[in-house]
Order: sequence, then structure tokens, then C-alpha cells
Amino acid sequence: MCGIVGYAGTAPAQGTSLSANHRALEVIVEGLRRLEYRGYDSAGIAVAGANGIEMRKKSGKLAKLLEELEQNPLPAASSGIGHTRWATHGGPTDENAHPHVVDGGALSVVHNGIIENYSVLKATLLKRGHSFVSQTDTEVAATLLGDTYRELVLAEPGVPSTGRLSRAMAAVARQLEGAFTLVALHADEPGVIVAARRNSPLVVGLGDGENFLGSDVSGFIDYTRRAVELGQDQVVTISAENVEITDFNGVPAEGREYRVDWDAAAAKKDGYPSFMEKEINDQPDAVAQTLLGRTDGEGNLTLDELRVDPSVLKTINRIIVLACGTSAYAGQVARYAIEHWCRIPTEVELSHEFRYRDPIVDERTLIVSLSQSGETMDTLMAVRYAREQGAKTVAICNTNGSTIPRESDAVLYTHAGPEIAVASTKAFLAQITAAYLLGLYLAQLRGNLFQGQIKDILAELAKVPAKIASVLANADQIKDLARSMADTRTVLFLGRHVGYPVAMEGALKLKELAYIHAEGFAAGELKHGPIALIEEGQAVIVVVPSPRGRDSLHAKVVSNIQEVRARGAMTIVIAEEGDESVREHAEHVFYIPETSTLLAPLLTTVPLQIFALALATAKGFDVDQPRNLAKSVTVE
Ligand code: G6P
Repeated sequence: MCGIVGYAGTAPAQGTSLSANHRALEVIVEGLRRLEYRGYDSAGIAVAGANGIEMRKKSGKLAKLLEELEQNPLPAASSGIGHTRWATHGGPTDENAHPHVVDGGALSVVHNGIIENYSVLKATLLKRGHSFVSQTDTEVAATLLGDTYRELVLAEPGVPSTGRLSRAMAAVARQLEGAFTLVALHADEPGVIVAARRNSPLVVGLGDGENFLGSDVSGFIDYTRRAVELGQDQVVTISAENVEITDFNGVPAEGREYRVDWDAAAAKKDGYPSFMEKEINDQPDAVAQTLLGRTDGEGNLTLDELRVDPSVLKTINRIIVLACGTSAYAGQVARYAIEHWCRIPTEVELSHEFRYRDPIVDERTLIVSLSQSGETMDTLMAVRYAREQGAKTVAICNTNGSTIPRESDAVLYTHAGPEIAVASTKAFLAQITAAYLLGLYLAQLRGNLFQGQIKDILAELAKVPAKIASVLANADQIKDLARSMADTRTVLFLGRHVGYPVAMEGALKLKELAYIHAEGFAAGELKHGPIALIEEGQAVIVVVPSPRGRDSLHAKVVSNIQEVRARGAMTIVIAEEGDESVREHAEHVFYIPETSTLLAPLLTTVPLQIFALALATAKGFDVDQPRNLAKSVTVE
């Protein structure tokens, strides 16, 4: 939520034809382009030029800012900061866009997060005679930083300005409550960018004669693979040659350097019209990569990154899965498998509801967080809370070095590759895959399943990528149907057992991408109320379980289809290849390859994603950046 870029350099990189002057701008614009998925209500850039700070900002997507820069170019500079916004305090206007420039134009600041005590601070600053042009909490922090900086100037007569912005930033950070990454550029120290972080993400990129800041590594992935994690409550100061980290009291701190292992090209569209379409098509790979290297020579599961003492895992008596959005639906799918294989009571809870209800958590509880970004504030806070209560925490995450895995006892990475489209697709399948691996690992460790059973499930999982590829290759029928439904105003989704969270995820995709009212229901719940919604022509998409599955689930869902059809619904059915019994009850049937009941979500989800994508595209919407959303929600 909100993307931040910072750049400090002096010389152009070898081989570039760009002058040093334009390198800063090029890096910042490119970083913003890559980080735009974090928010696109407005964008802005400030650089320190020969005549002090110069800033351009514009409401709307980055393209608007680029038009503005064409009309009104920024001057030569070797350092600067940039921001792409998801509005929290104050609407998406030019005034509320970042950077905020204060102190007579000397200081510019960008921010991600929410400063919870901003109104108290603002009241104090108003009393001191300041006025504000925006409704943002950021301008309050920037004004406070400007005041603090000037107080230091007065307190240190004759002392050169070096390091002053860092000291001022630390002093301000100590007074702020809530979540923030603040990044500042001051005209007195034009080659220096200073940032502070608490509860919001920030990564440093180490270059050669230049250094970078980004909300995540994609902010500088085109320029360096060397990244440094910033810890909680730290201030970082970058210049062309140096990176210095301290805590909020100015005590030097060490950052952990790591190598970014994903390819910048993986974050490009590869000829697809949208990231969304590319990422849906990446799914065979996302699942295959997540499965890769998880077994030893004898077929036993080995989860290297899982660093919770096996003796502790043997004694856990409860699992709570914490997640939001699509990740929470992945958790709901995983719950069926984990309970079935491990016989451990498993709950799935939305992270933002969890810690406010005084949950019962102890050292025998295993918390499994699911987060594509690893930065979702609601999930981070819930994980922290559970750890404080003594629970062991395992993160299932797609983003190396992000905050949630760092603050967890163990991490199991999904290897879906960078997911750029705001609405999640490939991360969902990768999360289910990783959670299944965790479930199998626990079952192996605790002796709930025989080794042969685990091997059989793993062998079946290994066949899933090819089956997803076959769903993708046969998607024309669902695309045509979706296009023909562009005027539809409401779609209901039904599913049962693992098909229920899939139905909810299908509905969420349609809401997110096509702005159509959509609801996912448990098919069995229909008769208890939702069936009242059915009227002539109402589109109902039903995820039908395999006819080979247990407990006559299939027959029950087929009855549910008949119930809605009898009341005029237009039924669209996702069923297993060879299931002829559904044909007579459906206007449209889409077949997916055979697989076991528990693995079916890895296939049944795919046509629902394609349906939402095709329908939204037919309506002319931007599927990568749906309105009002942000990919990484770093506010509570
Ligand atoms: C946002 C995104 C969703 C995502 C959710 C959780 O709301 O728009 O697509 O599912 O956050 O994100 P996470 O990174 O924690 O999986």
C-alpha cells in the first residue's frame, strides 16, 4: 500500500547513455512503474536540484505524472524520492499526493502507513503557527520533521549539516505512533536520502556508486540484486557511497544483506496484454516451483525453511491459519486437507478479526500465516500478537525477506515468482500447494499418514501443473461465455467442502476485476436464505465435486443445482471430466481434469479466474489495477 522509491547517486552507470542528471529520474520513474501495484491514486517525485528541492505530483495513475513531467520537466539532480499512493488520509487529489514539501521548500517527504497520533501532533503544530495544505497525516510528519531539523540547526551553530537529517528523522520517529515508512530529502544535504520505518516495509538496494530505497525490491530490481533488510524501528541514511543504519536512538545497527533471487524479467508481461493474464498462465510453474526440492531421495518430505523444533510440532494441539483476502480463501481450502491428514483441529481466521477478540492461544498452538506479500499489516499484527501469547508461527509467503516471515519462527516460501497484478491468482494456487506440503509434513512427523500415502499424494500433486496447463489450453469456451455476460449485474457462486472457498474466491475475483456484485455461498446453505435471491436468469456458477468423491457430496451439489434451476437460474457448472450427470442441469459445463477431492481447488479455481478476467476485459477495465484496491495493504 503506497510505493516508495529513493535514489542517491552521483555518476551514470557504465554503459548507459543517460547523463548523471537523468539517472535519478530514470531510476525513480522505473521504480514507481514497478511499485505502482501498491497504489495508484496519485504519484509524485521530488529531486534535489541546483536550486533546491523541486517536486512534481499528480493525482491519478503514474501516466498522469509522466505527462506532467513532459510539460514541466524536473531539473538536473543526482538524488530524489518518489511515491505512488493508495489514499488513506484525504482523497486522491493533487494536494494530498506525495511528496509533501514543507519548510519553505527545503524539505520533501513521502510516506507509507498511517500515523495514528497525527491529530494530536497537528494540533501542536497549528498552535506553533503552521498551516496545512493537505488533509494527510504525512504533511503533519513532514512539518514536524522540518521543525525538528531547524531546532537542530539552532542547537548546533557552526556544525556542518552532515547527519542532521538522520538525527532529526530519528527524533521525529520516536514521537510517531502507528505505521510508517517516511523518506525525506533536504536541500541542505542534497546527496542524502533518509528514511525511518516502523511496521511498514522498506528495503535498501546496494549499487555501485549509487544506492536505492524501495518499498520492496521491485523498486530497484532493474539496477541491483543486492538488498538489505531493514529492521523494525530503524533509520537508514543512503548516499551514493554509503548506507548507514541506526535505531530510533541513533545507535548503529546492522542490516542483513541478501541476494534477490527472482528475475526482473519475471516481473514483465512477456507479451501478454496484462500481468493478470500472464500470472494466470504462470500457474503451472507456480505450483511446480513450490513443489520443487521438497523431498529427499527416498521421497520423504523435507521442508528446509521450516525451523520449528519437530518435537514442538509433535505436541501442537491446534492450528490457526491467519490471512486476508484471497490468502484467507487459500487458508480455508488448506484447512480441509490439514484436518483430514493431521487430525489437528484447524481454524482459519481473518487476521484483522483475530487479535481483537481476545483469542485463546498458547504454546501448543501453531499459527500458520498466509501472505503473498509478507507485508499485510493486519496479518503482521495478528502474527505478532500470537507470538506474544507463546504460539509458534510459520509463515507461508511469496516474498523473500518480507516482514511477516522475518518475524515468524519459520517460513515456507511459495515460489510463484513476483505477482504484480493487484488481484491475486498464482499466489493463491502456490499458497494452497505450500499449505498442503506443510500438512503432509506434519502428518509425516506425527505419524498420521503412512509414508506410502504421503508419497501417493505427492505423486498426485506433481501431476497438477500439467493439469492446470490443460485447463488453460481449453479456456476458449469460458472466455466466450464471460464476454457474452458483460452486462450481467450479479453472479452467485456455489460450492461445497473445498469447493466452498473456491466459490468465494471466484466471487472475489469477479468483484475485484469486473466490479460486478458477486457472492460465494456454501451450496448447503442456499436453502437457509440465499435461495431467495434466485430469479429468472440469475447467473449461478457451481463448483461440483468429483463424482468419485466421498459422502455423496456430488449428489448433494447436483440437487442444489436443480433447486436453483427450478427457480429460473442460469447455471454454469465446473465439473470433472467424464461427469455427464451434470449436463442436463446446466446451461454451460466446463470440465477440469480428474484429480482427488482435496486437490481439485488447484484446478477448479482456474476457470473462475479466467471468467473474471475475460468479463472485466470485455467491459474495458484495467485488470491489473482495479479501482480502489492495492496489492499490499500495509495499513490496518
Ligand atoms: C490485498 C490484495 C489481495 C490480497 C490481500 C492479502 O487486499 O488486494 O489480492 O489477497 O491483500 O494480501 P497478502 O499479501 O497478505 O496475501
